Amino acid sequence: MEKLFVDLGKNSYDILISDSFNELPKALRGINAPKKLLIVTDTNVRDLYADEVHELLCSNGYDAAVYAFEAGEENKNMNSVLGICQACINHKLDRKSMIIALGGGVTGDMAGFAAAIYMRGIDFVQIPTTLLSQSDSSVGGKTGIDFAESKNILGAFHQPKLVYMNVSTLRTLPEEQFVSGMGEVIKHGIIRDSEFFEYLMNNAESIKALDSETLIKMDKRNCSIKADIVMQDEKENGLRAILNFGHTIGHAVESAYIFTKTHGECVGIGMAAAGYIAKKRGLINDAALSKIENILEMYGFKIFTKLPDKDSIYKFMQNDKKKLQGKLKFILPFEIGNVIQTADVTKEEIYEALEYIERG
Ligand code: GLY
Repeated sequence: MEKLFVDLGKNSYDILISDSFNELPKALRGINAPKKLLIVTDTNVRDLYADEVHELLCSNGYDAAVYAFEAGEENKNMNSVLGICQACINHKLDRKSMIIALGGGVTGDMAGFAAAIYMRGIDFVQIPTTLLSQSDSSVGGKTGIDFAESKNILGAFHQPKLVYMNVSTLRTLPEEQFVSGMGEVIKHGIIRDSEFFEYLMNNAESIKALDSETLIKMDKRNCSIKADIVMQDEKENGLRAILNFGHTIGHAVESAYIFTKTHGECVGIGMAAAGYIAKKRGLINDAALSKIENILEMYGFKIFTKLPDKDSIYKFMQNDKKKLQGKLKFILPFEIGNVIQTADVTKEEIYEALEYIERG
């Protein structure tokens, strides 16, 4: 079991990384979790892990119930959140009770949001079961839902009391979802840590083979990069925006594909496109851009591909909630492990980068 501490003053918490659920009851005792718990999951993860976690908690003296909402990003909406709140009422959760989010990013974001608003805020624990949620969304306290065709447009910062990762859950993850999660892991190397980037290059075989020891090591280093950024800028007033590397174009590509491609695959395209813009500006050289492209391809990304219509991608970029005073913010690498933030990328540069992705 590996442990990281996210130091956010009174909102601090541990991230525990293991290869089973066995140490969850001890971890919950460690945070003085109340007896009454609601395990929130989706219909896919319910069938895989909810029984195991539910029985483990009940046999350790917890009064736990399970509530599952219909799986899928299309259900990341207010109705599902209200369903979770209704389950809190049915199970008689009070202000001292706790929600356990068991699942991927959609589950963590919605269960966390329900925890942020139920009785004006109750505690919650994240048990992420996908690589995307283990590598990114379970750490940092962003919770929320999609609304009016905009991703995560409604939400709240609400930090969990604990994040408990069991890397063996990655064995039941569809391959495309594993690739998608690797997008965020690779992103963390590019924006902050060239050594970690090299580690990912040199250990691709054991990572892809889901070797537990390697995955625990990877998750630990990955989460420490994210946690370090969150600790410096919890509410995204500055530094935290670098986590959006690849997302300015990536989110728009994801929307233009009408969510038929995974988040990570679109972020991979976004990272290659941002890398190309950086190269054209002389921030990085050909070799650095090739390294970014090579590592993505090594992990199964198809970054060079026919894209949806460029005008529609550009239009979706205009809805980006990260826009400040009408200007799109871009994160561009100036070496592997370092990025800059800029708001002066032009429409021409964006179109040229999209053409580059299509040309291959
Ligand atoms: N996923 C970006 C962030 O947590 O800020």
